[in-house]
Amino acid sequence: MSVAARPLLVAGALAILPLAVSAQPPEHDFLQFCVGCHRLDGSGSAQNGVPDMRGVVGRFLRGPTGRAFVVQVAGVAQAPLDDAAIAALLNWLLPRMDADGLPDDFQPYTAAEVAHLRATRPGDVPALRQRALDEVAALEAGAAR
Ligand code: HEC
Repeated sequence: MSVAARPLLVAGALAILPLAVSAQPPEHDFLQFCVGCHRLDGSGSAQNGVPDMRGVVGRFLRGPTGRAFVVQVAGVAQAPLDDAAIAALLNWLLPRMDADGLPDDFQPYTAAEVAHLRATRPGDVPALRQRALDEVAALEAGAAR
């Protein structure tokens, strides 16, 4: 093969990579796909209905509905990232935004779990948010008894 043909082959290989693959570290995915709405520090924008994640988002993981909600919310489920990249992004993001809120036995998301949750996304995701918070409150009340 001539040397001149090589760069073309490389370009061709890159062109057929699927769009939804992320080879970059989670913090870069956060910068590229989330910060536009959520801001660098996760404070969001109350004015635009983007919730503050700081000291809030980890608590969802204390119940199964909340654990699903965090993947199924539109900005996450519909991000142009593959399941493994979403799992890595959330596992990186959650302890940074709300370490105290995460359950002590927090199990990192896996690509398989993200794939399942994306495939079974309910129609009314916003309703999940309140259900998730009610569920966590009930679980905590039960645990305190
Ligand atoms: C276009 C703006 C936008 C982008 C981009 C976006 N989000 Fe969101 N996000 C929102 C809004 C608005 C909500 C509130 C729920 C809703 O309307 O979907 C939200 C809710 C969330 C929630 C639930 C927080 C809560 O307290 O309800 C999480 C977690 C989240 N986003 C993570 C992410 C991550 C991670 C990314 C990047 C992959 C991302 N979002 C990209 C706008 C965005």
